[in-house]
Amino acid sequence: MKPVWTSMATAMTVLAIVLGLTSCANSSNDANTIIVYNAQHESLTREWIDAFTAETGIEVTLRQGSDTALANQLVAEGAASPADIFLTENSPAMMLVENAGLFADVDPRTLDQVPTRFRPSTGKWTGIAARSTVLVYNKSEIPADQLPVSLLDLAQPQWKGRWGAGVSGADFQAIVAGLLALKGEETTRAWLQGMKENATAFPNNVATMKAVDSGSPEAGVIYHYYWYRDQANTKENSADTALHYFRNQDPGAFVSISGGGVLASSDNQPAAQKLLAFITGMSGQTVLRDGSSMEYPVASTVAANPALVPLADLQAPAIDPSRLDSRKVTQLMTDAGLL
Ligand SMILES: [Fe+2]
Repeated sequence: MKPVWTSMATAMTVLAIVLGLTSCANSSNDANTIIVYNAQHESLTREWIDAFTAETGIEVTLRQGSDTALANQLVAEGAASPADIFLTENSPAMMLVENAGLFADVDPRTLDQVPTRFRPSTGKWTGIAARSTVLVYNKSEIPADQLPVSLLDLAQPQWKGRWGAGVSGADFQAIVAGLLALKGEETTRAWLQGMKENATAFPNNVATMKAVDSGSPEAGVIYHYYWYRDQANTKENSADTALHYFRNQDPGAFVSISGGGVLASSDNQPAAQKLLAFITGMSGQTVLRDGSSMEYPVASTVAANPALVPLADLQAPAIDPSRLDSRKVTQLMTDAGLL
């Protein structure tokens, strides 16, 4: 038996060395590997990093999570975080990390690729994509001339039991943050109270759209790309629905900016800055136009997918993303009994 144990011990030693080398190669100490904390849709970020790795040879490891979970994790980890770069679906999570002082300055050449309205004035992170708030509605249930004029209308008694949203998700909470920034605390509290009376809570945007497609409720507040993705595929969750754009700088025309920022604690900042430059550059933004995400490009003058309503036609309210306050939103939604 002894020789067997000896050779097993040898094999395990070899294995340990190999694993040690592998984990070393995956650490952010390696100049050719970076770690992304990714809260954007994994499919979109994979499209970006596959093209980035092909172009630069820099390997990317994704750690997937939600906006809120990963932002809180970064704040908890502080300078000890293994992350080199943080990508989100919405701006409030970027502000949490920025306010904790954890971001390095974004390379000025990257900022030059992004119009000022799609990034905070601090230069600590940048917009990488955008998504529009929309009302998805069931065409058989609501005639087009009876659609609400404003998002605020949905808090009125005539909308009781007739709409829903993915209340607990970062997507919907960004919309509430936009409302708070535009109209202030009093109006937001009143609207959330009306929502508690009127709306059904769904786990996410897709579940909301699916329910609207079946006719109950009649409408839902979601982001545009969930509908366009379904329309581009089987239409199984949206065939009986259409989108209503509130326009007119209404809170319901809020355009949410997905963000990217380099962590100050990253020991591989040049490679992390390179990824952010790539995502906001022509190649990265073209992924948004030609890929399957259906989100809007925001940089390098790349136009949107022609299936979408052009961003310039949405009449979105102008909101500095640095004014979006996720903690206050959580508090107000909790007070209203929505969370
Ligand atoms: Fe989303």
